Amino acid sequence: MSDYIVSARKYRPQTFDQVVGQEAIVTTLEHALASNKLAQALLFCGPRGVGKTTCARILARTINETDNPNDDNDFAFNIFELDAASNNSVDDIRNLIDQVRFPPQVGNYKVFVIDEVHMLSTSAFNAFLKTLEEPPAHAIFILATTEKHKILPTILSRCQIYDFKSIGIPDIKNHLEKIAKKEGVTYEDDALHLIAQKADGALRDALSIFDRLVTFGEGSLTLEGVSDTLNVLDYDTYFAITDACLENKIPEALHIFDKILRKGYDAQLFISGLGGHFRDLLVSQHPQTIELLDVGENTKAKYIEQGKKCMPQFLMDALDICNQADINYRASKNQRLTVEIALMQIGSLTQQGQPKKKSIA
Ligand SMILES: Nc1ncnc2c1ncn2[C@@H]1O[C@H](COP(=O)(O)OP(=O)(O)OP(=O)(O)O)[C@@H](O)[C@H]1O
Ligand SMILES: [Mg+2]
Repeated sequence: MSDYIVSARKYRPQTFDQVVGQEAIVTTLEHALASNKLAQALLFCGPRGVGKTTCARILARTINETDNPNDDNDFAFNIFELDAASNNSVDDIRNLIDQVRFPPQVGNYKVFVIDEVHMLSTSAFNAFLKTLEEPPAHAIFILATTEKHKILPTILSRCQIYDFKSIGIPDIKNHLEKIAKKEGVTYEDDALHLIAQKADGALRDALSIFDRLVTFGEGSLTLEGVSDTLNVLDYDTYFAITDACLENKIPEALHIFDKILRKGYDAQLFISGLGGHFRDLLVSQHPQTIELLDVGENTKAKYIEQGKKCMPQFLMDALDICNQADINYRASKNQRLTVEIALMQIGSLTQQGQPKKKSIA
């Protein structure tokens, strides 16, 4: 067996200051701990992979350490975790309640973490309610869920609620950068950016994509490799199409589109992506909006450069055409043609003296 550990586990934060992008939660928890105002029942809600279980474990450890700062006991056995996704019966909850009764042998608190608490059956919920209402002084409950709306109001009203947010791209990227350095992975800034973007706010997803790509790229991450593997159209394709359209080279634009289709990309994703590209060019034209451009450093420079070549009116018209094509796409009988027409229209926008409409007379 190899001793390879996936990054999500290897880099699970052990202390609050290592938790990324949840400053509000961490500060509140730390204050509550310091001033002894921690509720006995906490509900951690938020999207998947953003640090709920991690914070529950850190809290469980900290709360016993705070009370016995000189004690170097391992408090791991004061933490009880129940995954309600697979243990959702009344019996599972009864077992848990049995554990609640007895005070801990070391430390002052027993912490019960119930993950995916929305999966508990109704009868399990009911069995749990009493304990939650009048827990013994040594018991702390941390309920975690991705689906807050599925939690019964009777439970919600008995808990202090902590809303975890999804993690922003810069935070994810920073985190990946630190890990890449520790692991000796060479990387392009834009490659990490793309991974962070793809993770859609979930740090765990970012780490597993990272692992997969590092293995695939044999220890190095390039933008090209990453976009190829993630099957995202790379920025360069959009830059090339835009250049062709600006110079009215319609055949070239159509050829690039053909190549994209032959690589197996979806035509609608392409046309909405192209719309996004024109939007990015627009925002890159002004110092006030450039921060709305969500790409890595190298790519940003390319946007600014191409942005200089485009009249704002061209970009707005092109955006409009992409938008219309995107809307019409589903209903179209010839979807490829819908996109091709859009490309031809965009490729004609800068033509000198082009009549607005062909006169019929
Ligand atoms: N805020 C964060 N800071 C640092 N690492 C994080 C953070 N969130 C997630 N991670 C990483 O992702 C892994 C999984 O996080 P965690 O188990 O805490 O997510 P979760 O919110 O409980 O997700 P789920 O809803 O799927 O249970 C952690 O081991 C850690 O490596
Ligand atoms: Mg969890």
